[in-house]
Amino acid sequence: MSEAALRVDDLEAGYEPGLPIVRGANLTVQPGEIVAILGPNGAGKSSLVKAVAGLVPITRGRVFLHGRDITRIPAHQMVLEGLAFVPQTENVFINLSVAENLELAAAIVKARRQAALDPVYAMFPDLLRQRALPAGQLSGGQRQMLAVARALIAKPRLLVLDEPSAGLSPLLVSQVFAKLREVRDTGITVLLVEQNVKSALALADRAAVLVEGRERIVGSSAELLQDERVAALYLGRHTGKQAVAGGA
Ligand SMILES: Nc1ncnc2c1ncn2[C@@H]1O[C@H](COP(=O)(O)OP(=O)(O)OP(=O)(O)O)[C@@H](O)[C@H]1O
Ligand SMILES: [Mg+2]
Repeated sequence: MSEAALRVDDLEAGYEPGLPIVRGANLTVQPGEIVAILGPNGAGKSSLVKAVAGLVPITRGRVFLHGRDITRIPAHQMVLEGLAFVPQTENVFINLSVAENLELAAAIVKARRQAALDPVYAMFPDLLRQRALPAGQLSGGQRQMLAVARALIAKPRLLVLDEPSAGLSPLLVSQVFAKLREVRDTGITVLLVEQNVKSALALADRAAVLVEGRERIVGSSAELLQDERVAALYLGRHTGKQAVAGGA
């Protein structure tokens, strides 16, 4: 079998010594997959993807990107390793224009400006039209598109996003998700945290439910849609069985 795009191996990470938030998490993402991380508020979903991206200190375990150990790579070097991270908030510079946001992303990876921007504008024609507009004046959906476009400037192999649908109307969620599918179709692997469980399972090939810093349920999206515990937790179906809970 080919090397996994991402392998997270028994990862422990947190903000304060002795208080791990990610508690022995395991996750594998194959090249070309879209994988969703689901789970209740406070489960550690953001902490997990931030730890993978080098933004939360790791106290145990390993992270491999296409077989290369990136556990100790600092966040600002991750794009050079091929991992681009889109945080949930503050993911664009609101006082800079759309074009400046993209040019800055190109400068960070020392890419030739036009060569870096052209393919991204081709994929996001709305951003080309709005290139002179301050990013703060974009709609929520457009701003999220700009955040994704900024991440793609670095030509990552793995795109990691924390709740790209947060605060968006259902129509905009479907537009952003359609764009993520397009991104995957260009050969980029996608890992995303999502609260929007139904949409996430419609988008993703596979998903993992994180509870108290560990993955509790992992499977294909079809499997998770059938899973009684997922149904009880998220999909409003009563199954008569107890949902997965901490300590279970
Ligand atoms: N910067 C931080 N410093 C200290 N503790 C933090 C920090 N960020 C998050 N935590 C704690 O880590 C735990 C998990 O938070 P995290 O944001 O990873 O969860 P989440 O699954 O992404 O939740 P949500 O669904 O609300 O986004 C929470 O108890 C939170 O208080
Ligand atoms: Mg979060």
